[in-house]
Amino acid sequence: MDLSFKVRQTAGKHSPLEEEIRKLPIPVSAVFLGKNGKIRPAVFRETDMTLTCTGHDRIAEVFPRTVAKSRNIILEAVAADEAETAAGKRVAVLFSGGPAAGGHNVLAGLAAALGNGNTLLGIRRGPKGLIKGDLFEINKEDVKSIINIGGFDFLGTDRTKIKSPEQFDSVRETVVKNKLDGLVVVGGDDSNTNAAFIAEYLETQGINCSVVGVPKTIDGDMTAGSYLPISFGFDTATKIYSELVGNLNQDAASAVKYYHFVKLMGRTASKITLEVALQTKPAIALISEEIAEKNMSLNSIVDYIVRIITERRIKGINHGVILVPEGLIEFIPEMRKLIGELNKALAEYSKDIADLPSLEHKREFLLPRLSAESAQLMASLPPDIQAMLILDRDDHGNVKVSQIETEKLLTEKIRYRLSEMKRHTGLFFGEGEGKIEATAEQVEDFKKVTLSTQSHFLGYEGRSSKPTRFDAAFTFLLGLTAGSLVLAGKTGYMAAITDFDKGGRVLALPLTGLITAETRGGKEEFVIEKSLVELGSPSFKVFAQNRDKWAQEDLFSSPGAIQYWGPTSNQVPLIVALDQGYADFNAFNLGEEKQITEIW
Ligand code: FBP
Repeated sequence: MDLSFKVRQTAGKHSPLEEEIRKLPIPVSAVFLGKNGKIRPAVFRETDMTLTCTGHDRIAEVFPRTVAKSRNIILEAVAADEAETAAGKRVAVLFSGGPAAGGHNVLAGLAAALGNGNTLLGIRRGPKGLIKGDLFEINKEDVKSIINIGGFDFLGTDRTKIKSPEQFDSVRETVVKNKLDGLVVVGGDDSNTNAAFIAEYLETQGINCSVVGVPKTIDGDMTAGSYLPISFGFDTATKIYSELVGNLNQDAASAVKYYHFVKLMGRTASKITLEVALQTKPAIALISEEIAEKNMSLNSIVDYIVRIITERRIKGINHGVILVPEGLIEFIPEMRKLIGELNKALAEYSKDIADLPSLEHKREFLLPRLSAESAQLMASLPPDIQAMLILDRDDHGNVKVSQIETEKLLTEKIRYRLSEMKRHTGLFFGEGEGKIEATAEQVEDFKKVTLSTQSHFLGYEGRSSKPTRFDAAFTFLLGLTAGSLVLAGKTGYMAAITDFDKGGRVLALPLTGLITAETRGGKEEFVIEKSLVELGSPSFKVFAQNRDKWAQEDLFSSPGAIQYWGPTSNQVPLIVALDQGYADFNAFNLGEEKQITEIW
């Protein structure tokens, strides 16, 4: 065949892998299978489990109708009997926040649950599209073309927070105009908070429309203990980052001249970094939650890294990989204080600041409004980091940490500390507390070595890949769960799957049971509580018990690419297997495999 034709033929999502991957069978939990083996929606029953967060009395005041309806009781899906399922329902779905692999399979799961008798509508560009009423009907052929294909591009996404009365009115208009019986919000903590408020609002308006959330975020920080061990997208993103970090480990050991500083996405929690560290065993991995817990200052983090670099150097290792979580900056106590003060000042003087012509003017305006320590810290930071800290927050009040070059801030400080050590070796080497043991010859050798670094940011490249087998199955089941919830007329719930090693247990978590009160921009806000790395968790303990050995003996590993077939294709995230007590990492079992393209 003409090879140029072959090149053209693979355009528009028709690479050989994409073609093959669309046909990849997906496991389906038994609750979604009828007697004939066909997929059908499940029904829900109440369990004896309830969900509540701190301050739930306040939550019940803010969400009186949805709390009264759900009583914060967790629902469990059971197979429906063969009686007729609901028909004629119109259900709309939107993506919200950053993309995560598997979003398209949520649409496939929804379409499969709704079957031929109901209509699935897509909302373009996330919550903004919901406000504008930008909807279209999704047909089966569309769904078939995106099964197991990554990205959120079929619908698009955005990060609008629905907060003003006008925005809520527009949502009502969209729901009424499109005769929606259901609205499915696929998003992270902020987006599911949106979903909880919309559910409450529609109830107060007497509008019968089920609002259901689907837990998405590569950050893995929207979980609910054993009821929801992870959000979708985490597995794919961490496998991609682990492959790349593994390659860097290998390259560092081959070229023997660089330390690679790798900032890994994860706005707040360091779960991505922990998972990638368990997969790749780098020289160093910083975990923000540990840094906050130990109250480590920026200088003590630098000391910690410098010590490991020096000890490795003494052993003849002058290369390696250092993982830095994206959200680190907000966990360093003095930085956290500074950001808190900036947030307050930015909120209080938003109008004055908006009128100032340049960043320099904004900085000058803000400095006197900070405490003396924070102003001093601010002034000591590189100008580009100061600029990022002053910039506008996103719609949900978050600092744009993905744009702050924390890894560069660290390398600058590490370089300075190493030069100090070279100039005053007596202070740092020898016997005594905190000193590094080394012979005179090793110290001389240390003085000759320069630190060569490379910086990387692994983030966006992990969010829109084709989903792993785990994420493909997880998301399809989440779509089936969300569709079933809407058909059952349930509102204010989040779809959840657990027991990934036992065929999948399908749950519905009351959104109000996940919500807590937080202070953002100096105001009380109600948001879904983020789940962070717990220092008492088995996954963190395994990391903490082994990291010194990995560092001292350079025991890195390189796990390779996502596997669709082969030895690691059944792997669940390592932190899930460790924290949930599974017998094996290759424990993935979410039911009977089905060829999804053939279900309609
Ligand atoms: P979500 O919480 O919306 O899933 O987004 C996660 C994330 O990928 C973070 O890890 C990162 O800080 C942020 O999105 C980047 O956002 P943006 O796409 O707006 O640059």
